[in-house]
Amino acid sequence: MDNASEKKRRAAQAALPYIESGMVLGVGTGSTVNQLIEVLKDRKIQLSGAVSSSRQTSEKLKAAGIEELDLNTAGDLQLYIDGADEATADGVLIKGGGAALTREKVVAAASKRFVCIIDDSKLVPLLGAFPLPVEVIPMARSYVARQLVKLGGQPVWREGVTTDNGNPILDVHHLNITDPKALESTVNQIAGVVTVGLFAWRRADVLIVAGDGGVQILEG
Ligand code: 5RP
Repeated sequence: MDNASEKKRRAAQAALPYIESGMVLGVGTGSTVNQLIEVLKDRKIQLSGAVSSSRQTSEKLKAAGIEELDLNTAGDLQLYIDGADEATADGVLIKGGGAALTREKVVAAASKRFVCIIDDSKLVPLLGAFPLPVEVIPMARSYVARQLVKLGGQPVWREGVTTDNGNPILDVHHLNITDPKALESTVNQIAGVVTVGLFAWRRADVLIVAGDGGVQILEG
């Protein structure tokens, strides 16, 4: 395993103490979460089931023998575990690099606790070097892009990518994210926006950061 994957595996392992036997777990999307699913399988952690945030994760859960539950029947969850593309130490995140931001935001919102697992390359003092993903309905793509330009961003259509909800994504470069809650609210107000990948209002409660020197746990 390469160094980056090793760190992701260690971040995933450090999330295990938050998981209680028999719980229904909300599961995010991405390579770090895939490490978590492997760890759950290897350690034979007993869950009542999992609520998935993407088709990709649903496939991984199935391969690991973990039953998938529908959020509509599962109700509120005790715990959601997911990765991120960028994070500040207070748990504010940019997510959506894997195009799963909408379902991730829903499962995070429905969960009492959100534990975010990252390697140290993602921990930043200020968000925005990673372009901010925005999922939009197809007919609003150009309109939303023009509004994002007015906010100072440079939106780029992620061509060839359609989310699990059938929508395109705009990746917005060069945004000034000094007030993440205000920006999240502003982008949410643009007609045609489905989800902005800024997790400021529902940020992570616990940030687990794996680096070369060990694992750091930041709790807000
Ligand atoms: C998917 C996401 C992922 O959490 C994010 O892209 C991190 O992925 P990885 O663990 O592969 O770096 O937001 O929409």
